[in-house]
This record gives sequence, structure tokens and C-alpha cells, in this order.
Amino acid sequence: MKKIVISTGGGDAPGLNAVIYAVVKSAHYRGWEVYGSRNGYKGLLNPEELIHLTPEMVEDITPTGGTILGSTNKGNPFAMPVENMAGETQIVDVSDRIMQNFTAMGFSCHIAVGGDGSLEIAHRFAVEKGMPVIGVPKTIDNDLLATQRTFGCDTAVATATEAIDKLHSTAKSHDRVMVVEVMGRDSGWIAINAGISGCADVILIPEIPFDIDKVCAKINDNELHHKHYAIVVVAEGACGKNEKVICKSQEESEVGRQEVLLGGIGDWVAKQIKKKTGKDTRSLVLGHLQRGGSPTNFDRQLALRFGGAAVRMVEDGIFDHMVALATPNMKPVPLAEAIKSRKKVPLDSDKVMTARDIGICLGD
Ligand code: F6P
Repeated sequence: MKKIVISTGGGDAPGLNAVIYAVVKSAHYRGWEVYGSRNGYKGLLNPEELIHLTPEMVEDITPTGGTILGSTNKGNPFAMPVENMAGETQIVDVSDRIMQNFTAMGFSCHIAVGGDGSLEIAHRFAVEKGMPVIGVPKTIDNDLLATQRTFGCDTAVATATEAIDKLHSTAKSHDRVMVVEVMGRDSGWIAINAGISGCADVILIPEIPFDIDKVCAKINDNELHHKHYAIVVVAEGACGKNEKVICKSQEESEVGRQEVLLGGIGDWVAKQIKKKTGKDTRSLVLGHLQRGGSPTNFDRQLALRFGGAAVRMVEDGIFDHMVALATPNMKPVPLAEAIKSRKKVPLDSDKVMTARDIGICLGD
């Protein structure tokens, strides 16, 4: 009998619980056991935080958002913030302790569900500690090149589209420019998809450094065509030509966090538009709303399929690999390859061409 441990790491994404469901059910079908590690690797570090997951426990979790296991993006076991006796936070390497617990518990495999950061940690465990790991790609940002899609993005896009739809009526009623900042880190997938579907006037993505004067020209052009309002969708990683990417201040950075926190570009764009066009302008940050809620049908199925495929990889003994969508099937991709490069919105894609064709300004 095999014993699998599953963890969810990094920012949560709708569909995580569906992966857990599929792993538990597929393993149970084979007569295997599954344990959940709470808050990323914390359960593997402190075995009292391991949960024995039975089919009964996961019965109704597939349509729910978040993760029943909890998650963290400050839990890198190779550099974990730990409080010492004096109450000070120290960064320590706890990877050996985790490997000892993994062996002592008799686990056959660790299924690590996460984005690029979590998958990189999983790969280090495979290479440096000999842990049999399988990665499952998760992120609302959809920025992993090795898989056609990650789950979570479709739900985030649906949420952002609904928000943009709602902004149209208030923008129109007040003859205003509404600037909405969406997530996505250094990729513009959420912005371009929600922006096109929501019929935005302007979409700014990290892949295209924008010229604020072009953005303002589009808003002025709307006026000439008797449209006195505009919707501007800005990806959090978008950046003006010759400007720096805007991040949250140092005070807001968190101990143990590997990445910078993006945010603030929407407000900057709104201020520039107001200054240069004189239009009444408001900005809002959609933020973590995009990570919440029940996964869409697409995300549910993708997550369930990822979970099922991961268990089949355990059966076939394919470790240090990530399960990837290669329509119409799933395929294993070496983790080393999966963490190498990010997926960007291709500028020659039909999506980008369609945006331009329907009159959306991309800031260039
Ligand atoms: O990677 C997912 C994501 O939601 C990004 O789009 C965003 O930049 C980041 O996580 C926010 O992280 P946190 O939850 O730590 O604020």
C-alpha cells in the first residue's frame, strides 16, 4: 500500500480543493492512503499538523474556494522564518527535518500543488534530498510555460469580467474614466482576457510597456465619438515606457516572502489620466477577490484531471515531474523544465490582434 502526502503552497487559487478531492479519491480507489500537510510544508515539519484525508472528509469540497489544507507563501523550508527563544525571527534551513519526517512516516510520494515558487522547492527536495515528488501547477496568473493552462485563472478572469461589466454602468452614469487593476504578476493573462470580454477601452499588460499619452489619446478619442466614459484595465505588473514596475512599499514586505508584492499601477495610471485629460477618474484594485469563490467548470475539471493524472504518475513511478495539460491529454514534464520559464501573452496572438481590431488601446 502506498502513502501519499499532499500539500498546497503559495497563493491560493480556486480549484485547489478539487485537486485534493481527486487525489484522495484516486488513491483510495487503488487502496492507498493520503495525508494532507497543513500550510505548505508545516505539516511535514510538525507531523501533528498532518491530516489523514479520507474520502468522507473531501466529499463536498470540489466546488469550494481556497484550500482545506491552508497555504503560505512564506514557507520555503530551505529558508524558513522561525522564532527563536528570544522571540526573534531567524531564517533557518529545515529541509533535513522535513525529509526525516517524510521517511519516518513511510510516505511513498509528495504531491506538491503550487506555482513556480512551490514547484521550485519541490524540485530542490527531489534533487538535493531524494524525495519522490510530483508537481501540480496552480496559479491564477497562468504564467507557467510548461502547461497549456493552470487552474484558477479561468475563475479569476470570470470574477474580473463581472467587475468590469459592473463598472460600465457607473462609469457611463458619471462620464468617468474607471481604472481597474487586476492581478497576474508579470503576465497579462487576467487583464487581456477580462479586458476583451468586458469590452474595455484600454488594456495595459506587462508584455507591452505603455505610453500614457497613447492611453489619454484613446480617452480623448472616445469623447470625439460621443462616448464620455472609459474603462481601463491595468495588470498589476504593467509598466509605463521608461518607468519602473510599481511595488508595495518596503514596510509592507513580509519576512520569508520570496517575491516582491506588486500593486499601485492602477492608481498611478488614474492620476496621469486625470492630469492629462481633465476627466473625472477613479481607480480600484480588484485584489484578492480574484482568488476567491467557487471554481468555474473549466477550473474544476482541470483541477480534477490534474489530481487524477498525478496519482497515475505515482503509480507509474514518474517523480521529479509536473503534470501538464497538453490538450486533449495530460503529460509529465520534468520539474527542472517546468520552472525554467514564464508564460507571457504572445504579442502576435489572435487574442492581441482581436483586441486591436475591436478598437482596444494596448498603450503602444
Ligand atoms: O501569484 C498569485 C497572486 O495572486 C499574484 O497575482 C499576486 O501578485 C500575488 O499572488 C499576491 O500575493 P499575496 O496573496 O501574498 O498578496
